Amino acid sequence: MNPILRLDKVCKRFGGVIAADDVTFSVMPGEIHGLIGPNGAGKSTLMNLISGIYIPDSGSIFLDEKDISNVPSHMRARMGIGRTFQTPRFLQRSSIRDNLLLGTDLANQMGYLKSYFGKKGSNFEEELDRLMKYLDFTFDWEEDINGLAYGQRKQLEIVRSMLTHPKIMLVDEPAAGLNNKEIDDVMALLNFAAKQFGIGVLLIEHSMDMIMNICEDIVVICFGKVIAMGGPSKISCDEAVIEAYLGRDLDASNS
Ligand SMILES: Nc1ncnc2c1ncn2[C@@H]1O[C@H](COP(=O)(O)OP(=O)(O)O)[C@@H](O)[C@H]1O
Ligand SMILES: [Mg+2]
Repeated sequence: MNPILRLDKVCKRFGGVIAADDVTFSVMPGEIHGLIGPNGAGKSTLMNLISGIYIPDSGSIFLDEKDISNVPSHMRARMGIGRTFQTPRFLQRSSIRDNLLLGTDLANQMGYLKSYFGKKGSNFEEELDRLMKYLDFTFDWEEDINGLAYGQRKQLEIVRSMLTHPKIMLVDEPAAGLNNKEIDDVMALLNFAAKQFGIGVLLIEHSMDMIMNICEDIVVICFGKVIAMGGPSKISCDEAVIEAYLGRDLDASNS
């Protein structure tokens, strides 16, 4: 099986700061792949490089083994790169329905709808119901998006991305600001995305509990460089990783 996402020696510099230094790793379809590292390590920069907000200075990025290094951001979204942001981004003063429909428009453009959630082309409401069963809250369609609590907006942002039927979903710190119950619900939702629909998930998260719980594979970066790669058990006792986290207990949740 080919990786759904592959970075090959990706470099990105901001003035004197090397935010990505020769970064190589790949994500398989249906895999939840953790991307961790201390603050300022270059995690969000990598997501911006993958989604096309930044173009690498050198190196290449492949989606399904197609070189997308120079493809503009909006095209990458259509090609199947979904993302959520550290702080949820929604259309302000708009209903929940309008905000979620932003997702399906994209999906319809690409004609993914038929092949993805159901062979007969299940409709938007059915898809949404299916995803929402992982999140323990209900809402009124016409409610203003800002009527939802912060944690609920963060959860809904993942649902919105899933409604675009991405091949790979970039999820930046979904647990920040969520309570334990909400974190469990998000983990169930991400597992569903990966295992039922084969979406590759690249997950940035400070909560080590979450990372160690749901990631099959983890890449650790520090000052833009990959310092370790492997499964949770390997990463949690890796000397370089423990050093990078200043000896913090990797088993302890730190957000
Ligand atoms: N647009 C930018 N302009 C200048 N410097 C940036 C920019 N984006 C990120 N950086 C720098 O790149 C480094 C990595 O940042 P970032 O990717 O946000 O780290 P992380 O998400 O791991 O906390 C930091 O030193 C940051 O200041
Ligand atoms: Mg960041």
